[in-house]
Amino acid sequence: MKSILVTGGAGFIGSHVVRRFVNKYPDYKIVNLDLLTYAGNLENLKDIDTMPNYEFVKGDITDAPFINSLFSKYQFDGVLHLAAESHVDRSILDPMTFIMTNIVGTVNLLNGAHEIWKSNTDGKRFYHISTDEVYGSLGETGFFLETTSYDPQSPYSASKASSDHLVRAYHNTYKLPIVITNCSNNYGPNQFPEKLIPLAIQNIRHNKPIPIYGKGENIRDWLYVEDHASAIDLVFHEGENGETYNIGGHNEWTNIALIRQLCITMDKKLDREPGSSEQLITYVKDRAGHDLRYAIDSSKIQRELGWKPSLQFEEGIEKTVEWYLNNTDWLENVSSGAYEKYYEKQYKSR
Ligand code: NAD
Ligand code: DAU
Repeated sequence: MKSILVTGGAGFIGSHVVRRFVNKYPDYKIVNLDLLTYAGNLENLKDIDTMPNYEFVKGDITDAPFINSLFSKYQFDGVLHLAAESHVDRSILDPMTFIMTNIVGTVNLLNGAHEIWKSNTDGKRFYHISTDEVYGSLGETGFFLETTSYDPQSPYSASKASSDHLVRAYHNTYKLPIVITNCSNNYGPNQFPEKLIPLAIQNIRHNKPIPIYGKGENIRDWLYVEDHASAIDLVFHEGENGETYNIGGHNEWTNIALIRQLCITMDKKLDREPGSSEQLITYVKDRAGHDLRYAIDSSKIQRELGWKPSLQFEEGIEKTVEWYLNNTDWLENVSSGAYEKYYEKQYKSR
């Protein structure tokens, strides 16, 4: 049985990856290591948490002795590293947590893997899951390629860029078998409601203003989370050692167009008067250093590994809205307590 470590498996993307691997690979023992910060929630995995090939470990990737003992105990064959502080706005309020988790935490994992694999790397793989934000911001044209120079603009993207560089440095220096992917914006079930789409869904439900930063003209390239999980599965098994692959949806939307589309879907699903949710749109002060446009060229992973997204955006957004409306308890639970305080701080002066 192969022993696989997934970090951050209780979070948004991590929970979809854990579910896919636990169900699809009964001969893998999946160890999900997660600190259960505000963004991690074991509810996300309640359908698979009694499976015999799954184990949850609560722990902090910034704790080096703990990470070393985990690698020594489980002798992992592979690592899928998703644990991170992931929200740009929080990185503007508190950069240090991002430096610790995203940079120091990644180095602890690299050291743990290097220590147990240094005499034999056969069949081993350290997979670092990263973001398109490391490339900075595009103008109105062009796409991010794997060869695009790094130009991160926020503390979040700078911390992810640092971790990417460190992963490559361990490959170049110690021959650690690694692979990296840089993905565009994900959407779908289980995303914490600090992010644009679930935040808007939650506010529409409660007839609260939908805050749009600046003029709403910033562009993101949206990918359904299960399509990201399928790409991760493919790259983990078939990606070339030392390589980077960009993953994206070829699905660009300005924030305002996306929110208008979401409002139409919400009106339909909530049986509201057409146009009523759109009345909630409120333009607020822009995000500091707000990147204008992200757009991924994913031709390398399509050409070399045969991956492509399975869902059209219209279908994906329907499924997403349905999931949140069928899981209002989940939404209310994660939106209470500490999140209310964050929301107040983030939006009250905008
Ligand atoms: P998320 O914030 O939903 O989940 C992060 C998880 O990491 C949580 O379960 C949290 O408890 C855990 N975690 C945080 N700090 C930890 C620590 N110190 N030790 C152990 N666990 C810790 O994030 P997400 O949106 O699912 O993103 C997952 C990964 O994918 C991140 O590395 C992110 O940079 C990357 N990514 C995200 C997107 C996106 O659109 N969400 C796109 C591209 C790449
Ligand atoms: O591109 C990949 C990245 O996508 C990931 O690496 C990050 O982890 C993930 O959080 C996401 O980053 P963004 O900053 O693009 O996502 P967010 O949902 O925070 O914002 C999407 C866009 O919507 C962005 O242009 C900012 C804008 N926005 C966001 C919020 C929360 C608003 O206009 N209003 C809001 O209240």
